[in-house]
Amino acid sequence: MIKRPRRLRKNEIIRSLVREYKVCVDDLVYPLFIKDGYKLKEEIDSMPGIFRYSIDTAIEEIKEARSYGIKSFILFGVPEEKNLECALSGIIPKALRQIKREIEDIVLIADVCMCGYTKEGHCGIVKDGVILNDESLTVLADIALSYAEAGADIVAPSDMMDGRVYEIRKKLDEHKFTDTLIMSYSVKYASSFYGPFRDAAHSAPAFGDRKTYQMDYANKREALMEIELDIEEGADIVMVKPALSYLDIIHLAKEKFNLPVAAYNVSGEYSMVKAASKMGWINEKDIVMEILTSMKRAGADIIITYHAKDVARWITCQ
Ligand code: PBG
Repeated sequence: MIKRPRRLRKNEIIRSLVREYKVCVDDLVYPLFIKDGYKLKEEIDSMPGIFRYSIDTAIEEIKEARSYGIKSFILFGVPEEKNLECALSGIIPKALRQIKREIEDIVLIADVCMCGYTKEGHCGIVKDGVILNDESLTVLADIALSYAEAGADIVAPSDMMDGRVYEIRKKLDEHKFTDTLIMSYSVKYASSFYGPFRDAAHSAPAFGDRKTYQMDYANKREALMEIELDIEEGADIVMVKPALSYLDIIHLAKEKFNLPVAAYNVSGEYSMVKAASKMGWINEKDIVMEILTSMKRAGADIIITYHAKDVARWITCQ
């Protein structure tokens, strides 16, 4: 035998020399849920280890994660009241200002959406049971601007309205926020994997579902179109969400376009791992590393994951 692939697997040092894809702490974004109040740290039932924080405890959490090397965070607001004023000037702008004041050398990403801020729980303006596209764009752009003014380094529209990246870029530029990045949830599928997040953010739709704006999970070509449009409209980073059942889409995004690709390892993916590891059926650390490495292998440059803090404690680069 001349060729023996097993020679390259002989021991861990050789394996790590020839390893093709590695997860690094630098790739990770840690999501945080933030609500009004003081000294709050409420665990989310369906997401063990993930909490709703008030701003003060969020700052402690960010400092701790920062000490393990995590430098990027995405913030989701859990507002006191369900109205759009809370999106424009409520918990998230407040949190961005205070966190930026207290902690240097981090990147803050703000999720831009309406579902947590309206009683209908939809990602756009609703009239007579219909989610209105064009009427939602100005509001989304206003929310993005208020986050940029409060110190967000990156705004991340997750609403899936058509044309929102263009409207947000235009508004940011008009107000001289030319350096604020847009990470677009370009390919966001209507997925049952978001269930635990909706418990965490109290953002489940009050009627119907999100299928008129989030994508049908049976579709692939449509993902290319969504990414193409977002790039034309000015996105700096494109996202595929969820990640684990959509590795083919991540791969496609990476192959076809010249932009960084983010993969969102969503709440349901997290909860499944947590539940099975609690039952003792899987090894949590091994499974998490395998899952995240598969996302890198598929083509993700960035991984948004609730496992971020654990991973940062386990590795620097695996
Ligand atoms: C808001 C938003 C959602 C998630 C991120 N931003 C929920 C949804 O669209 O229903 C899901 C994230 C997760 O499940 O971890 N639109």
